[in-house]
Amino acid sequence: MTSTQTPTSRISGFYKRSLDERATLVADWAGLSSDERAILVGDAGLSTAQADHMIENVVGTFSLPLGIATNFLINQRDYLIPMVIEEPSVVAAVSNAARLFRAGGGFVTSSDDPIMIGQIQVLDVADLNAASRAVLNDKARLLHIADEVGGSIVKRGGGARDIEVRPFPQTAIGPMLVVHLLYDCRDAMGANAINTAAEHLAPHIEALTGGRVNLRILSNLTDRRKARAEGVIPAAELATKTLSGEAVVQSIVEAGVFAEIDPYRATTHNKGIMNGVDPVIIATGNDWRAIEAGAHAYAARNGAYTSLTHWSQDADGNLRGNIELPLSVGIVGGATRVHPTAQVALKILGIESAQQLAEVIAAVGLAQNLAAMRALATEGIQRGHMSLHAKQLAVAAGAEGDLIPRIVQTMIEEGNIRLERAKELVSELTL
Ligand code: MEV
Repeated sequence: MTSTQTPTSRISGFYKRSLDERATLVADWAGLSSDERAILVGDAGLSTAQADHMIENVVGTFSLPLGIATNFLINQRDYLIPMVIEEPSVVAAVSNAARLFRAGGGFVTSSDDPIMIGQIQVLDVADLNAASRAVLNDKARLLHIADEVGGSIVKRGGGARDIEVRPFPQTAIGPMLVVHLLYDCRDAMGANAINTAAEHLAPHIEALTGGRVNLRILSNLTDRRKARAEGVIPAAELATKTLSGEAVVQSIVEAGVFAEIDPYRATTHNKGIMNGVDPVIIATGNDWRAIEAGAHAYAARNGAYTSLTHWSQDADGNLRGNIELPLSVGIVGGATRVHPTAQVALKILGIESAQQLAEVIAAVGLAQNLAAMRALATEGIQRGHMSLHAKQLAVAAGAEGDLIPRIVQTMIEEGNIRLERAKELVSELTL
């Protein structure tokens, strides 16, 4: 990842600012033009006319909240993270978790080259071994043929990289040969390029194998295109009023093992990770169904569905976490290029390559997982949700400074967390 000088993303009390102040802060931080700021705040953005060119039978557009997660330090570079999501608490929780990772030096990330897999299904093959050999022996020519239709991806240094064969001698429809085309998509998600290349190769595969090609399509199990993130949280940062940092580290490690061994827990655990991943995928105009499909298939790659993260205690007693998942994201083409807000989101992120975006998203997923684990391992998820909700209501009712925690505490004690009650308390306590 390239490193450029950016101002700090460690912004305390971001949530306490007015909507307008937050937008101005982000616009200044990212150097947005006034047109881009208008898109960010929703005054401009995707028009119905633009939407009409994106899908069919358009009658309108659909809005979701766009929040900004703060505090991210990834490979020593500061990031503000645009997140599009309808669920409360996610953005606050991930910002808080990013602050904890920051105290341990921030995230360190890495990623594979952006290699996608195109699948060609070959049937009616008389001799699977001979057909496999014929394909592999002609690999160089096949790669060259695939690149004939590579267009801009090949011009940018991407294109066909390798061919693999996967024989299935016994299936319900007889022997099947699956040919994989490994294709470097560079900064594109690459679905169109890989599908075009697979379709273009198909007649040549038929000629070599003597078989009949049926499907020609990319695989969303993009396990050659993974991103990784890791980081450390000093134990002391995890201490609560009632629990020592060491106790919280232990509890989080125990919770991590729960997700590693039990698919019922792993599903919820990974859902929490996708709470961080999907909002950035959506904000940047990427295909979240593809990312979801790939992530969950990867989580089950060894036959049992398991956690996408791993948590351990390091030699100094601190908490160490890491994540690895397939992330086929692009920064050119598709909705990323067409959707004005996706363009602004990429500018806020300061993204220069698809790999950089994938690594940032991996870090957000890891942070989101920590946020959930920390809450679950300490006070439980509901209290945090409730106090955050109460805090938002107190601020909305006009409370400031010390008044906010007092109102929050009163509403929680009363079990009466409503805007009307917050307003009453603001007038009572400011008398
Ligand atoms: C809620 O959207 C996500 C969590 O359930 C994730 C988890 O349990 O790890 C809190």
